[in-house]
Amino acid sequence: PRSSRAKERFYATAVDLAALLDRIADDVAAEIGRGSVADYIPALARVEPGRFGMAVAEVDGGLHGVGDWEVPFSIQSMSKVFTLALALSHGDGVWERVGREPSGNPFNSLVQLENEDGIPRNPFINAGALVVTDELAHHGDAAETLLRFLQEESGRAGIGIDAEVAASEAAHADRNRALAYFMASYRNMRHPVPAVLDQYVRQCSIAMSCGDVARAAVFLARHGVRNDGSRLLEQSAAKRVNAVMLTCGTYDAAGEFAYRVGLPGKSGVGGGIVAIVPGRCAICVWSPGLDPRGNSVAGVAALDRFTTLTGWSIF
Ligand code: DON
Repeated sequence: PRSSRAKERFYATAVDLAALLDRIADDVAAEIGRGSVADYIPALARVEPGRFGMAVAEVDGGLHGVGDWEVPFSIQSMSKVFTLALALSHGDGVWERVGREPSGNPFNSLVQLENEDGIPRNPFINAGALVVTDELAHHGDAAETLLRFLQEESGRAGIGIDAEVAASEAAHADRNRALAYFMASYRNMRHPVPAVLDQYVRQCSIAMSCGDVARAAVFLARHGVRNDGSRLLEQSAAKRVNAVMLTCGTYDAAGEFAYRVGLPGKSGVGGGIVAIVPGRCAICVWSPGLDPRGNSVAGVAALDRFTTLTGWSIF
């Protein structure tokens, strides 16, 4: 209808982000609480399914949020974007050990590794993320390196690892352990598997709010430049991280996510999704109810509304 088109044009020219986020929260209200909370890590199953928060961090420092945007939650696989960026800040070596093709398989799948000589399809499935953590471990404990970076970018020294989630995940990590040992059998693990697994589990168990994640990710919208003006990544490396997020960041739903949202995005089973609008902003949305592929139902809906209302997709 004509009236809603006129509204959409309004947002595309002059975006009041605070008002926009309020509208999106209203629009997706019916989706909040849908899906199921991840329960394969018992400590994650304790989160309240009715939570919803969303924040936008702009390249010039602006920060806007709605709902539970200041409530910390388990970042889980969103950590994989940051560890990849940190590994690439030391050079391109990681690409000798991990591919960059979508897997079309669930995030914890083993099936492709044997046919593909222990080289994971991409850095965002668990096998690939374990390789990235192993690579980052050349430069010190990967979880500590990540934590320091996230604290600096978000300006919040209090960000930490949720010890209960970490212990719970460590006690239920047989699948990841299997992936890591299998890759070790192909000589694609440089450090002992228990040490890599420990760092991987702790990196996934960091707790942050939507506002903190959005601020920590905005360097990817700024083509590699951090909040203090220093450069973490060359422009081409930042482009590559965003490209791999688009094609691989939501696992076997990456095609559907690109179709609906049209932005680089990375999900976590804690219910968070971080998405990048290059040149403009980073977005983080959180709602714990997941679809069968492990992506937040209300989170995807909110990002879908965001790009529809603003026109800010990369396409
Ligand atoms: O490796 C795991 O099982 C979790 N700690 C992280 C998984 C995750 O978030 C995958 N994402 N959607």
